[in-house]
Amino acid sequence: DKIVVAIDGYSSCGKSSMARTLARNIGYIYVDTGAMYRGVTLFALREGLIHGDGTIDEAGLRARLSGLSLTFQRSGEGEEPVLYLNGACVAEEIRSMAVASQVSPIAALPFVRDFLTKEQQAMGQEKGIVMDGRDIGTAVFPKAEMKVFLTADPKIRAERRLKELRAKGDEVTTLEEVLTNLEERDYIDTHRAVAPLKQAPDAVVLDNSFLSIREQDLMLRFAFEAVLAHLRT
Ligand code: C5P
Repeated sequence: DKIVVAIDGYSSCGKSSMARTLARNIGYIYVDTGAMYRGVTLFALREGLIHGDGTIDEAGLRARLSGLSLTFQRSGEGEEPVLYLNGACVAEEIRSMAVASQVSPIAALPFVRDFLTKEQQAMGQEKGIVMDGRDIGTAVFPKAEMKVFLTADPKIRAERRLKELRAKGDEVTTLEEVLTNLEERDYIDTHRAVAPLKQAPDAVVLDNSFLSIREQDLMLRFAFEAVLAHLRT
């Protein structure tokens, strides 16, 4: 009687840390679909399929996608599973600004969405999964038993993201750059033709601007228990 939990929302709202913690608390598998879109983007960059002016060699990418394997693996015992691209760990590289600034146009390509959506649906077949992204409750698992839509004030989101970049040793990126990137990604994500970012009608909205980590965990945990109780009636 395990369920699918879909967590969607804007960039850098704290989706992945909330989803990861919920999964750990309830013994479910966590899948970060943003990492998968970032993985395709890193692949396209490495293959020289994104030109200097940002245009994408779509035919080239489409042809090479079948040779791309994205998996989540643990790099050691007790470690969280992270993204591997064709057998090599890319957990650090997919968080770079180079990837962040190209990922939304790549994610807007219908054949890329089709490719990753199928992989995500296969991962969720077992149930007992917490998946976060932009279209999980609307396109990947429209029948997910629990759907959460996260929002947060853009400035607060940018500040959090910058702190993460600084912690990883990035000293050059500015708050403005981060904010611009978040707003650009949100714009492209909400306006694309296929599976745009939007709130599913049956999603619970959560504004994460002023919640502590503990409050976030509690909210999701309560929501999860409430969904289970409701399903039992
Ligand atoms: O979640 P994260 O910020 O890592 O996602 C990076 C980008 O991947 C998003 O800005 C969006 O363009 C794309 N994405 C998507 N659909 C998903 C997850 C991510 O289009 N389910």
